[in-house]
Amino acid sequence: MSAQIQIRRMTVPQIAERKGSDPIVCLTAYDAPTAAILDEHCDLILVGDSVGMVVHGFNTTVGVTLDMMILHGQAVMRGSKKALVVVDLPFGSYEDSPIQAFKSASRVMMETGCQAIKIESGSYAAETISYLTERGIPVMSHVGLRPQSMNVLGGFKARGRTKQVADEIVANAIAADKAGSFAVVVEGTSVEIADKVTKAVDIPTIGIGASAGCDGQILVTPDMMGQFDRVPKFVKKFGDMKGLIETAAKDYAASVKDRSFPAEANTYKFTNKTNNN
Ligand code: KIV
Repeated sequence: MSAQIQIRRMTVPQIAERKGSDPIVCLTAYDAPTAAILDEHCDLILVGDSVGMVVHGFNTTVGVTLDMMILHGQAVMRGSKKALVVVDLPFGSYEDSPIQAFKSASRVMMETGCQAIKIESGSYAAETISYLTERGIPVMSHVGLRPQSMNVLGGFKARGRTKQVADEIVANAIAADKAGSFAVVVEGTSVEIADKVTKAVDIPTIGIGASAGCDGQILVTPDMMGQFDRVPKFVKKFGDMKGLIETAAKDYAASVKDRSFPAEANTYKFTNKTNNN
């Protein structure tokens, strides 16, 4: 029997223990090569349903399917070794009932090997969160701006401008914590509300468009790499991926047209004619 190589990933309890401690570094990934690059730098990699918008060109995340999440989850698991990998449950795959959520989440975990799932957590979600965690499925919750509800909310605007909505965001986070979530993403709200959530819950808060006071931060990787001209206000571009792709494509096209590519170094010359290969 061949010796198995033990791959040690960050675990759910290790992330949960980071409440109030070292900031938790999170990014999204959707494919194996990107996950392999991010792995060294991230505690947690999220296979977000943002894949629908930043990879597949959808206008919203609503059309993303469970099969898409599983395919991308498998790729990210193959590419990464060390980070905790969390896969989003997409719209329509969990809201109906805890049983529906369990069927979707167990399929995702069994077919990808990921360690946890994330759900967007409205007031209805507590029952589902405890149902899943009691049955061995760690849940990361998501409050504030919930992109899967954009048709109800009327867009992707930051949330919490009225006291009622601000209170609702804090209440959803507290309910998610009490129900057994191991972490909660706080998206698109004011610094004050995000800080209030961080104080109100015993689990780590992962901010996106929230507050530097959150226990960790996450961004959508193609946004932060600078792949798009238009990004939400809360995104900082840490690179110029669009510029790099444009320059490379332009140089490649010019080299094909003037026949400087392929050069001798990029071509084969066979000398041994006796071999069929
Ligand atoms: O889908 C996603 O990428 C997310 C992050 C924005 C947190 O949910």
